[in-house]
Amino acid sequence: MRVSKQDLTKLIQTKLTKAGLHEDHAAVVADVLVFADAKGIHSHGAMRVEYYAERIAKHGINHEPDFKFEKTGPSSGVLHGDNGAGHVAATRAMDEAIQIAKETGVAVVGVKNMSHSGAISYFTERAAEQDLVGFSVCQSDPMVVPFGGAEAYYGTNPIAFAAPGNDGKCISFDMATTVQAWGKILHARSKNEAIPEDWAVDENGEATTNPFDVQALLPIAGPKGYGLGMMVDVLAGVLLGLPFGNKVSSMYHDLSEGRNLGQLHLVINPEQFTAIQKFKDNITASMSDLNHIKPAPGFDQVFYPGQNLEVIQADYEANGIEIVDDIYDYLVSDTIHHNAYDAKDPFAE
Ligand code: NAI
Repeated sequence: MRVSKQDLTKLIQTKLTKAGLHEDHAAVVADVLVFADAKGIHSHGAMRVEYYAERIAKHGINHEPDFKFEKTGPSSGVLHGDNGAGHVAATRAMDEAIQIAKETGVAVVGVKNMSHSGAISYFTERAAEQDLVGFSVCQSDPMVVPFGGAEAYYGTNPIAFAAPGNDGKCISFDMATTVQAWGKILHARSKNEAIPEDWAVDENGEATTNPFDVQALLPIAGPKGYGLGMMVDVLAGVLLGLPFGNKVSSMYHDLSEGRNLGQLHLVINPEQFTAIQKFKDNITASMSDLNHIKPAPGFDQVFYPGQNLEVIQADYEANGIEIVDDIYDYLVSDTIHHNAYDAKDPFAE
């Protein structure tokens, strides 16, 4: 079914507040989730509310975190997240990074001890809106086999990048370092759909098309995706003194505990290198160049990174955001689960 952006935001905020989250934090989480749903990134939208609400109800997401920003150098800092909602901690950290980059030209800000922060292009696009280049990486549950391995070690460790062009547009690239994000497996489960066989492996390390049999994900491009996942773990975990590799906490293990996850934002002010207008003109020019590349057979047009989601966004803005009926039914219900997700199995739903 289709739901307006405003209604969906309100429904999510109400549910998270009912679960115990501070109203202001619930508003930020709702904004991040609706940002994702409005672009068709349903794996990181309203679908997550049922799980978040249970974790909030069990205090595994801190209701009243004591966020502290520690400036560690002229262009660096750490936002101590106190295991509050990751969406809120990472937004605050990005706002600090934006401020520092405007003052010093560049900023590197880590977020320590936060919960899951959702679709991380939310943060990089926040920098692009301020005429800055944004880059962000974050840790996630260990569920990816390293190249040549049969056991999970790294998480789906996403990487996001955004660069501003003219007229409020930006190139925005945001990907898990796995063939697919774990949320896509959850989305396939919620729709009872099979998955392509190159996404994931079952308990024997064999490729599977059944989303309910998935035990580990595959990195993109073999050793290259494996290497990118390692890079994210070093920047968002080891560098911040947090648990790393397969010691990163699991989403579905003990929902009453904080997750202690890490994220790292890098913000660059283009003015340090070239005139901002020239930079934006050239980003816009490359977007146009890409759109005018001769399409390959089976394609109507080449999109610049992120443009595929703009197409979905335009439809959703005009006609409402597509939401799975079960998710809508949950959002309008009074239900807050207390034992649906705490399966202590990292691969349970
Ligand atoms: P995806 O595979 O759907 O897209 C990856 C990138 O490719 C996007 O920037 C997209 O715009 C671009 N793209 C796709 N098709 C395109 C086309 N035809 N032309 C041009 N560009 C195209 O994304 P993925 O890997 O499934 O990640 C989904 C979300 O999951 C991301 O927002 C990511 O941040 C989030 N995520 C969050 C995690 C967390 O722990 N917070 C963990 C893993 C992923």
